[in-house]
Amino acid sequence: MSGQRVCVLDFEEEARKVLPKSVYDYYRSGADEQNTLADNVAAFKRWNLVPRVLRDVSSVDLSVSVLGEKLSMPLGVAATAMQRMAHPEGETATARACKAAGTGMMLSSWATSTIEEVMSAMKASSGDGGVLWLQLYIFKDRELTLSLVHRAEKAGYKAIFVTVDTPYLGKRLDDVRNRFKISPHLSMSNFSTASLAFSERNYGNNSGLAVYVAKAIDPTLCWDDIAWLKKHTHLPVIVKGVLNGEDAVQAVNYGVNGILVSNHGGRQLDGIPATLDVLEEVVRAVQGRCDVYLDGGVRRGTDILKALAMGAKAVFIGRPVLWGLACQGEQGVTELLELLKEELRLAMALSGCRSVSEVSRSLVKRAEFTSMM
Ligand SMILES: Cc1cc2nc3c(=O)[nH]c(=O)nc-3n(C[C@H](O)[C@H](O)[C@H](O)COP(=O)(O)O)c2cc1C
Repeated sequence: MSGQRVCVLDFEEEARKVLPKSVYDYYRSGADEQNTLADNVAAFKRWNLVPRVLRDVSSVDLSVSVLGEKLSMPLGVAATAMQRMAHPEGETATARACKAAGTGMMLSSWATSTIEEVMSAMKASSGDGGVLWLQLYIFKDRELTLSLVHRAEKAGYKAIFVTVDTPYLGKRLDDVRNRFKISPHLSMSNFSTASLAFSERNYGNNSGLAVYVAKAIDPTLCWDDIAWLKKHTHLPVIVKGVLNGEDAVQAVNYGVNGILVSNHGGRQLDGIPATLDVLEEVVRAVQGRCDVYLDGGVRRGTDILKALAMGAKAVFIGRPVLWGLACQGEQGVTELLELLKEELRLAMALSGCRSVSEVSRSLVKRAEFTSMM
């Protein structure tokens, strides 16, 4: 019987106890000294909410429209690889939980469930929401890359989030020490050859995933590849991993439908800004020409509200979902999503916001300024 889980940190604590060490390390780690990993979380504490009062908050509407789909809240699930290491039902459990919560899930290219089986799981479960998007890595093998896109289109996925911050894998010290590999009974299910499915066993003294990425992922990726991708799909394309205004303008010029401000949860380049700290620069540069989203370090309802106030249309969570899965599979993820939804509802009500459209920039102030008032 699990203890009571009252915040996201409780899920992590319980997950740490049940997961094998090398799996927990892989899920938790950031790159190098993990400064960016910690700063993603710390950044939210550098901002205060400045609530409004006397606004009849007896009813609060959390719903938003993201890429043409209605979500019950401005919080979705970011792509995290190899979810069956957390729970035997892996990505299919996450998809069902997202449907129950009325939100969307970004399926990793490196999922341990196929594109089609995750869609079937979502369709077959109860609830009237639920959206799937595909997270895409661009492989050296471009035909294979496009086959993932076309399978997603055919299965009914609603957008492609193309990850642009991973020409090589960041150096995650625990994974190098643990010589991290996928659990022996699993593989990256969307690929048929052992080398692409990450199921070979001989990766030497390194993180197996780092060796895999160097072999499989295309480090020549550049802006023209965004145009190439857009040419080959009718789905909206969102770039995942933009952190600066100039790149944001480039992305808009290349016709993207959205930008996800992300530093890959601090797992790629260490010593770079927390996502919240660059969000406003990106929002300003984009000038409303496409939606801007954020992930990284979101652990509380108040974090979601702060990101919305600073211009994000919606935010995503990575690790917390893995903790939910490890604790209790589909039920654990459902519980986690509901917990964050209720935290957001309370934060909005206590701030005087009755709907997401009432969340404005004046709701947040840098902490040092508010404390001087
Ligand atoms: C274990 C793990 C696996 C991940 N796998 C992927 C992936 O396959 N593709 C991708 O674009 N991002 C991946 N990410 C990054 C997430 O999509 C997201 O950017 C990040 O987890 C957000 O930060 P958070 O974990 O602090 O919420 C992964 C992150 C984690 C923690």
